[in-house]
Amino acid sequence: MSASHLPQRVKVVEVGPRDGLQNEKQPVATDIKIALIDRLSAAGFANVEATSFVSPKWVPQMADGAEVMAGITRRPGTIYSVLTPNMRGFEGAVAAKADEVVIFAAASEAFSQRNINCSIEESITRFEPVARAAKDAGLRLRGSISCALGCPYQGEVPVASVVDVVKRLAALGCDEIDIADTIGVGTPTRTREVMDACAKVFPIERLSGHFHDTYGQATANIYAALLSGISIFHSSVAGLGGCPYAKGATGNVATEDVLYLLQGLGIETGIDLEAVVHTGDFISQAIGRPNASRVGRAMLAKLKDAAASTN
Ligand code: HMG
Ligand code: MG
Repeated sequence: MSASHLPQRVKVVEVGPRDGLQNEKQPVATDIKIALIDRLSAAGFANVEATSFVSPKWVPQMADGAEVMAGITRRPGTIYSVLTPNMRGFEGAVAAKADEVVIFAAASEAFSQRNINCSIEESITRFEPVARAAKDAGLRLRGSISCALGCPYQGEVPVASVVDVVKRLAALGCDEIDIADTIGVGTPTRTREVMDACAKVFPIERLSGHFHDTYGQATANIYAALLSGISIFHSSVAGLGGCPYAKGATGNVATEDVLYLLQGLGIETGIDLEAVVHTGDFISQAIGRPNASRVGRAMLAKLKDAAASTN
């Protein structure tokens, strides 16, 4: 397929403040989280996944979700999303004036049990009132499907299982559905197979790709998904993250790497790559982690050289 078949514009959803930070063992100060979100919205993201309203016993790092949401400076037009596993989470999201709530299911039974302590079937039942309430409140509703390309507990996940969960989330009225490679095991052929199958049961322009980069395949998978017509992708600045319920999983694909890829393909995002690179440097230093974005590291080194030669 030629490059002319690629989407002209892509929405990049920055999930670093939530997916990226949720797994950090040391508490990250609330004001650092707020500064991170504000830098990201200023860089031009139309959608930032800001925090979760989940049990603090399960994910302690997200316990300050209400404070984070109260402290950020809202950029007009930016959608601030939060995770809501149940009605309690939904109530927190409404009080915090979130724009979009995310219900999260899995394509694997074993992962569903470990992540949200119930079966896939039970999770859908639990999401029903959340979905209804979101619609009544005029909020956007997103559904996320973990382990769509493989599961840390059951291994292979049939394409039919992913499609089945897409149908169930679609029936709940999801505006967008995320196909997530939680443990980053997917490869391009499988990615296309899953995306093409899901696109038969849900509008492709509302399907998104959420790739973790554990096996280094994420940008290849994004390119494959672009060829299938997917135009929404999730990523974390500086490649932050992991998943508390997926051993060995590394962070999401780095936002800087995704933006560089898209820029090279001539695809518009409306996001300022250099501002994201500086944000990646800021958060990596703030939490004392090496910057996991290759593009980030390369661009920072270049900027440093340029600054040194003008001094
Ligand atoms: P449970 O223990 O089965 O449910 O947890 P429960 O109703 O018995 O609640 C347990 C305790 O949590 C109770 O407190 C509740 O009040 C409290 P206690 O009485 O023991 O003191 N609680 C809450 N507190 C705050 N906010 C809430 C809430 N709900 C209950 N909303 C539950 C079930 C779903 C709550 C739990 O399993 C949970 O919170 N899980 C969250 C897991 C999570 O956040 N995982 C990471 C996000 S998903 C992800 O990263 C994947 C994704 O990126 C895509 C991909 O890459 O795959 C999206
Ligand atoms: Mg994830």
